[in-house]
Amino acid sequence: MTKDIPGIDRLTRYDVAVWDGDGPVPHDVLTAEVSTARGLLCMLTDRIDGDLLEGAPHLEIVSQMAVGVDNIDIEACDRAGVIVGHTPEVLTETVADSAWALLGSIVRRLPEGEREVRAGGWGPWEVFHLAGGDLHRTTLGIVGMGRIGQAVARRAAGFDMEVVYSSPDAVPESGARRVELGELLVEADHVVVCTRLDDNTRGLIGAEELAKMKPTAYLVNVARGPIVDTDALVTALREGEIAGAALDVTDPEPLPGDHPLLDLDNCLVVPHIGSASVRTRNEMSRLAIDNLIAGLEGRELPARYPSGG
Ligand code: GLV
Ligand code: GLV
Repeated sequence: MTKDIPGIDRLTRYDVAVWDGDGPVPHDVLTAEVSTARGLLCMLTDRIDGDLLEGAPHLEIVSQMAVGVDNIDIEACDRAGVIVGHTPEVLTETVADSAWALLGSIVRRLPEGEREVRAGGWGPWEVFHLAGGDLHRTTLGIVGMGRIGQAVARRAAGFDMEVVYSSPDAVPESGARRVELGELLVEADHVVVCTRLDDNTRGLIGAEELAKMKPTAYLVNVARGPIVDTDALVTALREGEIAGAALDVTDPEPLPGDHPLLDLDNCLVVPHIGSASVRTRNEMSRLAIDNLIAGLEGRELPARYPSGG
């Protein structure tokens, strides 16, 4: 458990240890603290691995305040009989909003314009100065058509876009066309990555995939950094293989201030804030604590991972 979580006061009947240091709790501190704990409320920055679980014989529930659980060794939790909760649904629409904010910003070159104005560089009006792409009547490619991908797709209707998606499962009611990833990359004017990170999606967008994209196309990642090969992306952006990228997530994360991605005008990076609206972060806190309490009381979790499990 970390500080700044609304609703911690709902746990007063339990003996609660709260990490109140700066930044994520160090792994050794977390490992030591959970050795006697029955429940853990954790963040995506906490690595919940086999060793930690082995040293935590009383642990019954790991409640993650995020939808993605790639920081948690789910198989090791299963083996240890530890149930896992997460926070789907409550953040879907906010992350979809963020994907569109990122896409609109990079396509219309807002970060470049803003940097220019702040630097006192606003010169005479010129016809093609900072001319970028369009959103309306373009083709949007969505990689991963889960809840978030579908919410991104719904918003495309307002921009009169055609939507294609790649996904293990068809989503017939989405009004979007399912294609293979290779075809999506060739066809799309904008590619938004919304898939979970697992062994099938790590490095999914590498040099070969970026080379398939149009030189006028933009890439947005609101999922997890390692789905996109960072070095390949730097090269593609530098060489003009694609027009630009907007990233809420990176690999590594946090991205060091001197990283080559940050030297590129056609790249927008924000620090993993896709679900960070005040309302949604409150909802995520509430659900994470609901999951934790349900687990401690031996009830079914409101949002267990994987769902239906
Ligand atoms: C944030 O990245 C989340 O998985 O909720
Ligand atoms: C993530 O939860 C997604 O549904 O895309």
